[in-house]
Amino acid sequence: MLYIIGIGLSDEKDITVKGLEAVKKCKKVYLESYTSLLSVSVAKLEKFYGKKITQAGRDMIENGQERILDEAKKKDVALLIVGDIFSATTHHTYLSEASKKGVKVLVINNASVLTAVGVTGLQLYKFGKVTSIPFDNSNVEEPINVLKQNQKMGLHTLFLLDLEPLSGKFLSIGDALEYLMAKGLAKNQICVGCARLGSKDYFVKSGKASELVKEEFGKAPYCLIIPGKVHFMEEEALEMFK
Ligand SMILES: C[S@@+](CC[C@H](N)C(=O)[O-])C[C@H]1O[C@@H](n2cnc3c(N)ncnc32)[C@H](O)[C@@H]1O
Repeated sequence: MLYIIGIGLSDEKDITVKGLEAVKKCKKVYLESYTSLLSVSVAKLEKFYGKKITQAGRDMIENGQERILDEAKKKDVALLIVGDIFSATTHHTYLSEASKKGVKVLVINNASVLTAVGVTGLQLYKFGKVTSIPFDNSNVEEPINVLKQNQKMGLHTLFLLDLEPLSGKFLSIGDALEYLMAKGLAKNQICVGCARLGSKDYFVKSGKASELVKEEFGKAPYCLIIPGKVHFMEEEALEMFK
């Protein structure tokens, strides 16, 4: 059996009771380690879960899928995903390939950055298409185009920012704003930067692009929001983060 388990956004205690019970009975535990980042070490997770964890980078998750599914045919295997499971573009293939191979799967959900951004007071129902800004972005048009499309409809835009957790590399909110301003974003556009959502020390700051670009957000992970048409209640909520 393959258990695909969201382990939440912050630390070892964010796993659900159902998720923890599943991890405890698994013979092998993989942690997907390239699409997001917790605020605690793998050693801390291992201690709390009482299990040895194998970190799986992009190569193991994408090219080692067959092997992981074969293992799950013979024994209980857990695949842990930081945040929730299907908020990265890659993980649904585990479900579809498992079904083709006749491997049983149990999905155990958790919180995601896609809903944690609600702490800003911007209404989740009013977000448009989500987009990602990569490290190497000078010739990339997709994020700025998505912003323009969302803005036309008055919708908020969430930018996910590139990261390589295994090598400690993170695109900062400042880098993201520099990219957007180079592509024509107005310097006085109100933006909302978010770091470590779901953690005790989460940090949200709202302000003009030209101000936020200089702001220090502390440790990763980071995301950035450009609000669309703002309801007065949303505006009031953003006041908290000025
Ligand atoms: C592929 S997404 C989704 C990750 C995860 N599976 C989830 O459900 O939250 C990863 C991106 O989300 C953003 N992100 C993830 N966790 C975050 C957090 N706690 N605070 C702020 N941004 C976060 C970062 O921009 C990161 O590059």
